[in-house]
Amino acid sequence: MKDFLLKDALKNNYAVGAFNFSTVEVLKAIIAAAESQNSPIIAQVSESAISFMGEEYLKDIIKSARKQCKVPISFHLDHGKSYESAVKAIDMGCDSVMIDCSMLPYEDNVNITSKVVEYAHSKGVFVEAELGSLAGTEDDLTVEEKDSCYTSPQQAKEFVERTKVDSLAIAIGTKHGAYKYSGEAKLRFDILEQIQNLLPDTPLVLHGASGVDSRDVQRLLELGVNIQGAKGIPEEFLRRASKMHICKINGDTDVRMSYMIGILSNIENNNKSIDYRGYLGAGMQEVAKLVSHKIEVYNSANKAN
Ligand code: G3H
Ligand code: 13P
Ligand code: ZN
Repeated sequence: MKDFLLKDALKNNYAVGAFNFSTVEVLKAIIAAAESQNSPIIAQVSESAISFMGEEYLKDIIKSARKQCKVPISFHLDHGKSYESAVKAIDMGCDSVMIDCSMLPYEDNVNITSKVVEYAHSKGVFVEAELGSLAGTEDDLTVEEKDSCYTSPQQAKEFVERTKVDSLAIAIGTKHGAYKYSGEAKLRFDILEQIQNLLPDTPLVLHGASGVDSRDVQRLLELGVNIQGAKGIPEEFLRRASKMHICKINGDTDVRMSYMIGILSNIENNNKSIDYRGYLGAGMQEVAKLVSHKIEVYNSANKAN
């Protein structure tokens, strides 16, 4: 098998940023940032991103990006929902896949994940799975309901031992999308600590980790985007998690926000020219700025070697 980026991150107390892309422009911006920071990087595609870009195009894009990228890069399937989806991503050139059956009954999650691990490992591909549900810390849930969303440390240990996954996505209070908290931001570092104590050799993954910077929310509001009340994960939480066993931090919402800030502000400033390269180029610059900053927060700069 190839080198597993997350093993080095675990050993050296940093996290690798995993950023979603659905266009070549966003992928190029992610890679440019990683190269400028000399950082390893994960570029990931969701099932809907794959169908948006087209499997055959994506296969060639991955091949070409791998050849040109000057830092270690992993292409990863994000939230694969089935065995077939994982197989398809592996055929397309992903060296890492997520099988996300966290919404199924526990035994089904174990069985499908194990089947994916068997196939993926036979092809030299790494597997991430998920346990728990990414519901955030909704204020209207009871304490029991909140607790049932978080990953159970004991179950995590059993799950990793039975399935032999390479990394595990855990639920400790994050949530997908731009609206993560209506009140105070919280993350259950106590649960993270218990999981890492029980699974000292397993890199852990944080989904739903976009920061949703309040200055970016303000810029988008000024540009006419309806994003009132959006709130993400405070940066100090991500710095702290990166030094613990969180070795991969996922961000899609932040990328989308940055891309749109670049595009929309450029449309305003350029008399609505028909040359779309100006808008897309500005979007790429904003994405590269964001990714560079995240690399600093996750402490992965200069870890490419
Ligand atoms: O976690 C999910 C990602 O944000 C992917 O979203 O399915 O809209 O590409 P998507
Ligand atoms: P965000 O919505 O916080 O960016 O999370 C994305 C993610 O977890 C992709 O798997
Ligand atoms: Zn996710």
